[in-house]
Amino acid sequence: MQHLCIKYRNQKHNSATSILEQTFIDIPAGTEEEKRVYSEIVDDYIRDHDWLKLMSYIHHKQTTRLMHSMHVSYLCFLHAFRKGWDYVSAAIGGLLHDFCLFNKGDYQIRHILDIWCFWHAKQALQTSENKYQLNHITENMIRAHMFPSAVTLPKYKETWLIV
Ligand SMILES: [Fe+2]
Ligand SMILES: [Fe+2]
Repeated sequence: MQHLCIKYRNQKHNSATSILEQTFIDIPAGTEEEKRVYSEIVDDYIRDHDWLKLMSYIHHKQTTRLMHSMHVSYLCFLHAFRKGWDYVSAAIGGLLHDFCLFNKGDYQIRHILDIWCFWHAKQALQTSENKYQLNHITENMIRAHMFPSAVTLPKYKETWLIV
């Protein structure tokens, strides 16, 4: 994982396409057109310095939060794109669903009673809203992605992609 972090930091112009090519061997590749459209949607997000931080947080034991977020985002995007749904909101909702700017392990040591699966969706929404303008679909995707652990109901078909 360390080599990916270093590689990511050293790239001046990260793009979703290059990251997908480096890491997502086990998910549907998508067509060149799909990759281009996806890259256009998310590249400005992932080039921001906060996204570099997400590259250093281990997530689900064997990946980083950035990689996990992109993985989820890309799958949501592909499905929505192919179904004719709102693929822009799906891609952004997937990208931001775990947008918490701290290491889960460090936080959990300090806040032993906070159980990650119950509260991190709310935290991700707050961090996302502080930084970006969200539409109702993206907002619902982030808030409800842990349903039924999260109390918010999925309201849109795009949200069901991430639950
Ligand atoms: Fe997640
Ligand atoms: Fe999550």
